[in-house]
Amino acid sequence: MDTISFSKETFLHELSQVTSTVELNQFKASYIGKKGIITNKLKELGKLANEERAAQGKSLNEARAFIDEHIRAQETVLYKNELKKKLAHKKLDITLPGAYLSKKPGGRHPVTLVMTEISEIFIYMGFTIEEGPEIETDYYNFEALNILKNHPARDMQDTFYAENTTTTDTLVLRTHTSPVQIRTMQRRKPPLRFIAPGKVYRCDSDISHTPVFHQIEGLMVDKGISFSNLKAVLEAFIHRVFSPQTPVRFRPSFFPFTEPSSEVDIGCILCAGKGCRVCKGTGWIEVLGAGMVNPQVFKNVGYITDLGDFNYSGFAFGLGMERIAMLKYGIDDIRLFYESDMRFLKQF
Ligand code: DAH
Repeated sequence: MDTISFSKETFLHELSQVTSTVELNQFKASYIGKKGIITNKLKELGKLANEERAAQGKSLNEARAFIDEHIRAQETVLYKNELKKKLAHKKLDITLPGAYLSKKPGGRHPVTLVMTEISEIFIYMGFTIEEGPEIETDYYNFEALNILKNHPARDMQDTFYAENTTTTDTLVLRTHTSPVQIRTMQRRKPPLRFIAPGKVYRCDSDISHTPVFHQIEGLMVDKGISFSNLKAVLEAFIHRVFSPQTPVRFRPSFFPFTEPSSEVDIGCILCAGKGCRVCKGTGWIEVLGAGMVNPQVFKNVGYITDLGDFNYSGFAFGLGMERIAMLKYGIDDIRLFYESDMRFLKQF
């Protein structure tokens, strides 16, 4: 191998003759590109005896660094010159559409917006977030929540069954977020204060039902939690998502996992309580289900052993995101959320 005959003077002279960035790239390649002089010499180093290799390697690496540094500097100079020339020729047309128009930014789905907003309201009130699986066992989705086999409550929620290859329990797509109550209570001891947002599934489809929709479950357990706490938290929540003037009413209802149970209505926001198509003339719209945790549920998760033990108490609630989003944004067909029609989605 010939010894390196790199001359800084020659290189700098050649470099000074280069007049464009395109030319500069070719020039750079001729030295330190894949087949450049320096690169080739570096490749041949292996053939040399140890001492010679060290010396040659050192001077080649120095040469490469020198070349690189000067080429970079020249690149900046040439680039700036070229840009200046280009701009001098082209007059800026400020009537052209902005570049951002060709790259349309994505947006959040209205259901995601509402879910985030609601989660933030509860986080503000000290609730944490919990999650659970969307494929549930019959035990978590029903049994542990005191929804026993053959109980009519099972008909209220048309269940999708999943093929089961691993467990002996029946698998379902969760029909509500309530199983997250059970999973969390099994993992943690009171005091508890959390919400569980997520997807739920029911075999149902019309203008107010889709086979998949979103719920937020809520649970608060401690010593001395009463229905007043439930009312206070849910009223504060409703006044925050809708408006501080929204009328709220608690109506007696039934859920197997709460006792007593309640459904919560708000004064119809479309007709201000006068009665319209949306509230079916009643002036009220149901927005969520809630109640005091049934002691049987506490027993199922091992918080108590005796149903008469009132050491702990708590409240739970569940609300549908799509329903809230429809009311908030005045949407009359739930299917619009899932048709991916940009004209609809762009409005949020
Ligand atoms: N899981 C119920 C449903 O999907 C909603 C619900 C009602 C949840 C009352 C609760 C509750 O936690 O206390 O219909």
